Amino acid sequence: MTQDGVQPLRIDTSRPHPARIYDYLLGGTENYEADRRAADELAAAAPEVRIGVRANRAFLHRAVRYVVGHGIRQVLDIGAGLPTAPNVHEVAQESAPEVRVAYVDNDPIVAARGSALLSRSGTTSITLGDVRDPRSVLEHPGVREVIDFGRPVALCLVAVLHFVTDAERPARILAALRHALPAGSFLVLSHATGDFADRSAAQAVYSKATAGLHLRSRAQIERFFDGFEPVEPGLTQVPFWRPDAPPPPRSGEIGFYGGVARKTG
Ligand SMILES: C[S@@+](CC[C@H](N)C(=O)[O-])C[C@H]1O[C@@H](n2cnc3c(N)ncnc32)[C@H](O)[C@@H]1O
Repeated sequence: MTQDGVQPLRIDTSRPHPARIYDYLLGGTENYEADRRAADELAAAAPEVRIGVRANRAFLHRAVRYVVGHGIRQVLDIGAGLPTAPNVHEVAQESAPEVRVAYVDNDPIVAARGSALLSRSGTTSITLGDVRDPRSVLEHPGVREVIDFGRPVALCLVAVLHFVTDAERPARILAALRHALPAGSFLVLSHATGDFADRSAAQAVYSKATAGLHLRSRAQIERFFDGFEPVEPGLTQVPFWRPDAPPPPRSGEIGFYGGVARKTG
C-alpha cells in the first residue's frame, strides 16, 4: 500500500502484453524485452503489421474527428493503449476543447503512464478496468467523474475486442455498453481479422502473451454493431474508412476492419 492507501500497480514485464507489443510496433518506448521479441516475431510472420497498426491508429483519429464533428463532447475509450501522440483527447480537443475523455485499459502500465496526461480540470481520466466486466467499467468513479451518461457519448472499442474470446461473450459486453448509451451516441470499433491473409502465425505469437488474438470475420464483427445505425461507408478495412490521404501501400492486406455507427433509439 502507498501512504494514501492505494494498492501499488504490479507490472509483469516477463510476458508480452498487447499494449506494449502495440506500442513497440508504433515506434513507442513503453515496452520490455518480452514485448519487443513478440512484436518482432509478429512482424516476421505478418510483415504488413507495422503499416496495419498505424492505419488502425489513423482510423481512430479520423473517427474521433468525425464524431466530434457530429456534436460528440464525451468519449469513453476502452482498451485505450499506452499514451501515443496524438492521443484521443488531443485529437478531439483540436476542434472542441471542451471534449471530455475517459480512458480505460486493463494493463496497469497504461494506467500508470496515462495518469501523466490527466488534466487538472477533470476533463480526462484514466481507469484500470476490463472490458469483459462492462458494468464495473460503467460504474467506476474514474469513468463517472468524466462521462455523463445522460448525454451522447462516443464509445471507442478500437483494436480491443479481438482480445476477448467467444466464451467471454463479446455480444453480451456490447449489449451492456450499448444499454448505457443514450440516443445520439456513437460506437467506434475496429477489430483484427484473418479475412485477407492466414494469420495463424500471428495468433501463435499472442498465445504466449497475456491475452490471445481472436480473429473474426467481417460478418462476425458486423454483429457487434447490432442496435446501431452504420455511418457510411460501413465496416471497411481501416485505411478505407473515410480516408483523408491516399491509402498506405499494402492496404488491401491490412487485417483490421473498422467502422462507426450511431445509436438512434
Ligand atoms: C492494440 S491496443 C489498441 C490501443 C488503442 N485502442 C488503439 O487502437 O490505438 C489494445 C489495447 O487493449 C487493451 N486490452 C486488452 N484486453 C483488454 C481488456 N480485456 N480490457 C481492457 N483493455 C484491454 C490492451 O492493454 C491494449 O492497451
